[in-house]
Amino acid sequence: MNNTILDIQDLKVEFPINIGTVRAVDGVSLKLNQGEVMGLVGESGCGKSTLGFSILRLLRPPGRIASGRILYHGRDIVSMDEKEVLKLRGRRIAMIFQDPLTSLNPLFSIGRQFVETLQTHEKGINKKQAILQAESMLESLGISKERLQEFPHQMSGGMRQRIMIGMGLILNPDLLIADEPTTSLDVIVEAQFLDLLADLCRQYNLTIILITHNLGNVAQLADRITVMYGGTLAEVGLSGDIFHTPLHPYTQGLLASIPNIKLDQPELSPMEGSPPDLVNPPTGCVFHPRCPQVMDICTRQRPPAFQKNGHQVSCWLYR
Ligand SMILES: Nc1ncnc2c1ncn2[C@@H]1O[C@H](COP(=O)(O)OP(=O)(O)OP(=O)(O)O)[C@@H](O)[C@H]1O
Ligand SMILES: [Mg+2]
Repeated sequence: MNNTILDIQDLKVEFPINIGTVRAVDGVSLKLNQGEVMGLVGESGCGKSTLGFSILRLLRPPGRIASGRILYHGRDIVSMDEKEVLKLRGRRIAMIFQDPLTSLNPLFSIGRQFVETLQTHEKGINKKQAILQAESMLESLGISKERLQEFPHQMSGGMRQRIMIGMGLILNPDLLIADEPTTSLDVIVEAQFLDLLADLCRQYNLTIILITHNLGNVAQLADRITVMYGGTLAEVGLSGDIFHTPLHPYTQGLLASIPNIKLDQPELSPMEGSPPDLVNPPTGCVFHPRCPQVMDICTRQRPPAFQKNGHQVSCWLYR
């Protein structure tokens, strides 16, 4: 039986700006099981990163969590005091970003950055122990330990990205949020990186939220996929089910608009229309203005999440 590591309940996150309030995450509920890889996909601006940052309470100003709960091992992150959140960040929950160069310090060697991370968080660890730990981390990343003496600019993009993961994992967290971690990598290095992530997931019993535009990436790695649209969850299901029997018209549109050599696909059909204005979102279902199967109720009432063939799908077609 799987243990729930993260239980997000009716989360709403907003950015008050001069022309109104951006409802970046608008009523998201999602459970993650320990040890699973959850792919989080959806068009640009649908709220993926905002959801990721909310879990660490690292929203950029003026972002704020308006309501809802984020239970991590049963404890609500939303209502924790800042001191407790600081203890979670890095140690229990790690996040890696798109561009490793902006996250690594260009002035310090890789080894020094590992040592500082360890010494900041783990009281009583001396430099020698820290270096030993860093060396064994590098080994599991497939990088020779001599490279601890190098600086970030001396490494290739793929290697820097692996180092970033190492930095994220050195404190032994159980939840990793990876936000578009392979965007700056070429396809070969990207594939190696995803393999590494899968290995680490097994080795450390890590739970991963993999945020990506690239549905190919999630197909390869994720156990389940969450499809977001306009700050809401359109559909959640096992990877294979989402790819082979997508239920939500948005998921269907998304899959039809990407090339897939395995599926028998006569031609690509880009999705009509543009993403919703999150300051003035459409009434009812946020997807209804673009939905080829729109019904009367869709324009009036927000669909709840229905359970259908193992999918969780927010669409009136499945009521
Ligand atoms: N600091 C901010 N101030 C105002 N609005 C913001 C801010 N950060 C994000 N938003 C808005 O919140 C919404 C969700 O943004 P978010 O970055 O979470 O999307 P995303 O799904 O990660 O997109 P992408 O795929 O492009 O990274 C967008 O409409 C965005 O414009
Ligand atoms: Mg993003």
